[in-house]
Amino acid sequence: MNIVFEYIKYKWKAKERHGIHSPYVYDLVDKVFKISFSYSNLKLLKQTFKSLEKNKKTITIKDFGAGSHKLGNTRTIQQIFKTSSSKGQYGKILFQFSNYFQPKHILELGTSLGIGTLHFHLGNPNCQITTVEACPETFNFTREFLKDKVSSIIFIESTFSDFLNKISTEKYDLIFVDGHHDGNATIDYMQKLENNSHNETIFILDDIRWSEDMFDAWNYLRNSDKYNVSIDLFRMGILIPRKQQVKEHFILRGK
Ligand SMILES: C[S@@+](CC[C@H](N)C(=O)[O-])C[C@H]1O[C@@H](n2cnc3c(N)ncnc32)[C@H](O)[C@@H]1O
Repeated sequence: MNIVFEYIKYKWKAKERHGIHSPYVYDLVDKVFKISFSYSNLKLLKQTFKSLEKNKKTITIKDFGAGSHKLGNTRTIQQIFKTSSSKGQYGKILFQFSNYFQPKHILELGTSLGIGTLHFHLGNPNCQITTVEACPETFNFTREFLKDKVSSIIFIESTFSDFLNKISTEKYDLIFVDGHHDGNATIDYMQKLENNSHNETIFILDDIRWSEDMFDAWNYLRNSDKYNVSIDLFRMGILIPRKQQVKEHFILRGK
């Protein structure tokens, strides 16, 4: 995939709020993407990022996903933080969705160092977050690291498939799929998750342009009749069933 060409195409097509006729999506652009971090949230994020940036502890990665484009299996925490964490603009999007929609139950597939988890928690400190990670050393590090930062979090050490095969009919209001960047696997997880979602569940898929194969999976999912709202934010894609709404696809700029 030529990511530079893809980015130019995305930028060319991406809309501001003018020209968006869906009130639901208009609100996203007009309200959700304008939410800012409070001073105390920013301070906590800054401290957290600083401690991870400096952390030279080495862990051995057991890879259950599509591997890394850049790294081997022995990695320092600072390397993992640099390459695999939802920070900056995309972390902020997670915070904004959690803050605006106030989801009661969030499911995150792919914990890594818990940066996405932390953004969800800061957006809505009352929500319960279930986060799934299969790599044992990553799991142990993050469970300890987040101990004092995030309450109401259920850490599950499991592969995504084992977890999805075992969960009952628990319904999640927001689901973040961020790991195992393989097109077929992503489609499979999304099909399984139909039992654990409702009409307003917000699915956030990360790295939709990670590879041709992931981009094909994203296009397949957004064209399916299961999700009437689909939003392309370049790195992330959002899908929401919303059966009451006419099916429409949006290419938007997050802030
Ligand atoms: C990109 S990182 C997640 C980043 C995190 N969500 C954030 O927002 O900062 C992906 C994580 O998913 C885990 N993972 C990948 N494939 C998996 C699978 N099939 N089952 C369980 N965990 C998996 C990896 O070990 C890695 O820690």
